[in-house]
Amino acid sequence: MNKNILSGMRPTGPLHIGHLFGALKNWKTLQDKGYNCLYMIADYHALSTEYASMGKVKEYVEEVAMDFIAGGLDPHKSTIFVQSMIPEHTELHLIFSMIVPTPWLERNPVYKEQKKQLQAKDINTYGFLGYPVLQAADILIYKAKYVPIGIDQMPHLELTREIAKRFNYFYGETFPIPEALLTETPKIPGTDNRKMSKSYNNCIYLKDSPEVIKEKTSKMFTDPKRLYRKDPGHPKTCPAFIYHKLFNSKDRVGEIEKECKGAIIGCTDCKKELGTAIVSYLEDIQRKRKELEKNREELWSLLKNGTKKAKKIAEETITEVKIKTGLKYV
Ligand code: TRP
Ligand code: SF4
Repeated sequence: MNKNILSGMRPTGPLHIGHLFGALKNWKTLQDKGYNCLYMIADYHALSTEYASMGKVKEYVEEVAMDFIAGGLDPHKSTIFVQSMIPEHTELHLIFSMIVPTPWLERNPVYKEQKKQLQAKDINTYGFLGYPVLQAADILIYKAKYVPIGIDQMPHLELTREIAKRFNYFYGETFPIPEALLTETPKIPGTDNRKMSKSYNNCIYLKDSPEVIKEKTSKMFTDPKRLYRKDPGHPKTCPAFIYHKLFNSKDRVGEIEKECKGAIIGCTDCKKELGTAIVSYLEDIQRKRKELEKNREELWSLLKNGTKKAKKIAEETITEVKIKTGLKYV
């Protein structure tokens, strides 16, 4: 049975707690359930929006790799690799680009939304329009059956499915039609209650020191209706409470809810407790990460190993694709 799983992240900096709960934990569960997991650092995808400022890409690849492993991915169980180190991705991307009608790409809601949001960057490029075609190549080159992603990536997976069907229609049954494995996590807000994002400066990173974590949590937004210490709070609308649910024990969360509603606990104390809970939750991850930081050569050797394993599958698929399209001559 085909149990290949593929997912990826763009290397745009170190990972934050949104990545941990929104993706990494789920990826680890799949790995431990015995799926054949391939987890990719999508540096070509980073190039599509960051092409004018790629100075830190190597550093970011390393950060993401360390966060992957410290966050629970085992490089001996999962195949962890770097996209640009496997040229077969770009070959398949090129072949797909010949059969994908441009209207499929132009009506992609992610594309339309990003073009609006990233107006400061010039992303009126050929490559950016084709972003989902490269993503389809990433998935299909491993004939992945399952793709763990967040709901925001659904339009890209839908396109991948359409591309697979179109290829199969022209050249014969080649690719399985992949399915999404949606992660069910509550949206994790940033410390200012907006979307957690590097550009908003509202992230808690996995690598933040205990001091930084405590500082950031102490300044977190809380229930906007609770103006005075004596006012009852509304945990439902408090971002700090969402964090408590992730980082504190279930019993304690129940108590905090009551203490907040009854104005028994104040926000300052509540956030102080939260800071401590986050620090202790991240302790193991940070210990592991510090080990990895000491030896970059070892880190790259793990990545090279993963790349080698992934490349073997990618080569087989490209050979098959070339035979099927008639482009294999000798
Ligand atoms: N586009 C994804 C994101 O921004 C990253 C990505 C690239 C990806 N290739 C992929 C995710 C293949 C899943 C499968 O999050
Ligand atoms: Fe939020 Fe805690 Fe303040 Fe209640 S007491 S509003 S949960 S920070």
